[in-house]
Amino acid sequence: MDFPSELIQFLKKAERVSVLTGAGVSQESGLRTFRDAQAGLWAQYRPEDLASPEAFARDPKLVWDWYAWRREAVKGVRPNAGHYALVEMENRIPTFTLITQNVDGLHRFAGSRNVLELHGNILRVRCADCGTFTEVWGDDSESVPRCETCGGMLRPDVVWFGEALPRAELEAAVSATREAQIFFSIGTSGVVQPAAALAHAARNKGSIVIEINAEPTPLTPKTDFAFHGRSGEILPELVKAVWG
Ligand code: APR
Repeated sequence: MDFPSELIQFLKKAERVSVLTGAGVSQESGLRTFRDAQAGLWAQYRPEDLASPEAFARDPKLVWDWYAWRREAVKGVRPNAGHYALVEMENRIPTFTLITQNVDGLHRFAGSRNVLELHGNILRVRCADCGTFTEVWGDDSESVPRCETCGGMLRPDVVWFGEALPRAELEAAVSATREAQIFFSIGTSGVVQPAAALAHAARNKGSIVIEINAEPTPLTPKTDFAFHGRSGEILPELVKAVWG
């Protein structure tokens, strides 16, 4: 893929770069994107009807089992070339912030260091009542595992629809976006707030906004550069074009 020489020059000189990633970056590792059709048993459900406090209150076991299925899927995959290209970019740019909507932990698994998990991490489990984190729980096929500390139900440490994002991560993401000279939006449909607002905040502050996504999104017309294709192919080629 050919990249505009001005983009290559911008990146060679860049001191502060922020990146927002979404499910598309993990798609090439074999994980379905959030708005992909669900698989098998889960095909009858919309994610929006499972990833919410109301769904958990209505049928905690169904929600727990969906996340247990997704946790096993995450454990079975590895980072792809797109994840590793972002690690290489972080190694080359003095101030680099990776803001992700993904809950699969693959960016850290690949070696990314400055990662802000806006929507939590599916591999972490906490008590729905007292918030205590736990690494181990009984696997009762009939009911949701209980907290050792208070007996409350356990839940995945992810942000559900209607829930607030973790304050520290969100504030750090807003600050990194404001300071960025270049802002990438990669593998995200750019429809879920507040993450989707970050690219517009970057643009309004005069940052160069670059989109890498399989298909156009509502952000595309507002970008300085947009590359439509697979992030696992485009990112390594961009890193090679800039840093050899
Ligand atoms: N390379 C690049 N982009 C890809 C690839 C790929 N290999 N495969 C899919 N895509 C694109 C799709 O075209 C789509 O625009 O990735 C985007 C994924 O969009 P979504 O499925 O909406 O996922 P995401 O944007 O991460 O969702 C944001 O919404 O549902 C909530 O909390 C959930 O974190 C999620 C958030």
